[in-house]
Amino acid sequence: MRKMILTFVMFLMTIILTACQFGSVGEDKVITVYTERHYDTDQLLYDRFTELTGIGVNLVSDGADQLITRMSNEGQDSPADVLIIADAGRLHRAKEMDLLQPVTSDVLEEQVPSKYKDTNHYWYGLTMRARVLVYHPDRVNASELSTYEDLTDSKWEGRIVTRTSTNIYNQSLMSSMIEIMGEQQARAWAAGLVQNFARDPQGNDRDQAKAVVSGEADIAIMNTYYIGRMLNSSDPYEVEVGETVRIFFPNQDTTGTHINVSGAGVAKHSKNIDEAIELIEFLTSEEAQRSYADANYEYPINPTVEPHDLLKSWGSFISQDIPLNKLGEHSALATIIMNEEGWK
Ligand SMILES: [Fe+2]
Repeated sequence: MRKMILTFVMFLMTIILTACQFGSVGEDKVITVYTERHYDTDQLLYDRFTELTGIGVNLVSDGADQLITRMSNEGQDSPADVLIIADAGRLHRAKEMDLLQPVTSDVLEEQVPSKYKDTNHYWYGLTMRARVLVYHPDRVNASELSTYEDLTDSKWEGRIVTRTSTNIYNQSLMSSMIEIMGEQQARAWAAGLVQNFARDPQGNDRDQAKAVVSGEADIAIMNTYYIGRMLNSSDPYEVEVGETVRIFFPNQDTTGTHINVSGAGVAKHSKNIDEAIELIEFLTSEEAQRSYADANYEYPINPTVEPHDLLKSWGSFISQDIPLNKLGEHSALATIIMNEEGWK
């Protein structure tokens, strides 16, 4: 009886081992990606990458700050090969914390314009977004809108909403103002803007658009893709909000609209550098860029790929012409200024 059980167990183990072998056919190597992005479409992209290259992808998803802390704590034992997070300010922080390494390739040079990558090649943009003015067309005429600077005018008193100063998107917007105007004027801008807030900063970007529709405010400062996401939301109220508001690209006659990226870098202690570069090359390729653009309503960074039709309907725009590294370099000062000027 015992012998029979043993034979049966060995038989089972053979089946399991064979299955495992078949399961890994075509996956010569597996790389580990720490990512803040958590969309189903992203998983399809990784599957496609494996299909094309034979390189498997092990995903670790968490918040950007959590991933950065985790990599930092893991040090040289970190299994991370690639880090993918939103905001140049955060990518810069990862670089400064010595979590990334510079990499170059002809493919990346071609697919990612210099505007959307780190000047020292520590990270490459994957998608681009603009931080725009979203307004209610019944209460604001587009002809009244012009620049971020104009938002400090007393005509906007009690009419503007945006999220808190702890949010990286606003820290990066503030950093861009420091870069463009200098510290003194940027400080005055922050003070003037706070003066015109309709309420204490709160909520996420979608909540700002909702405040505009509910009548709590007339203008929201927020990222473009949230309008796309709300228009395609399963929540009917979000669709209504998306359909009600309008988008305005500020500073078109002056310094351009504030933009930012989500991006990827090769981990400092990656043991699979070639494969990690291959993944970033794939994610910035036409095929992957098309998928990003259609799934999340962000702008492609690869110039050969057209934006989604919805984004095209908003029209083209001129963006700030400052190195995205600056968003990270000024980020500490930006936070201090916002705190000191009462931007909660
Ligand atoms: Fe976001």
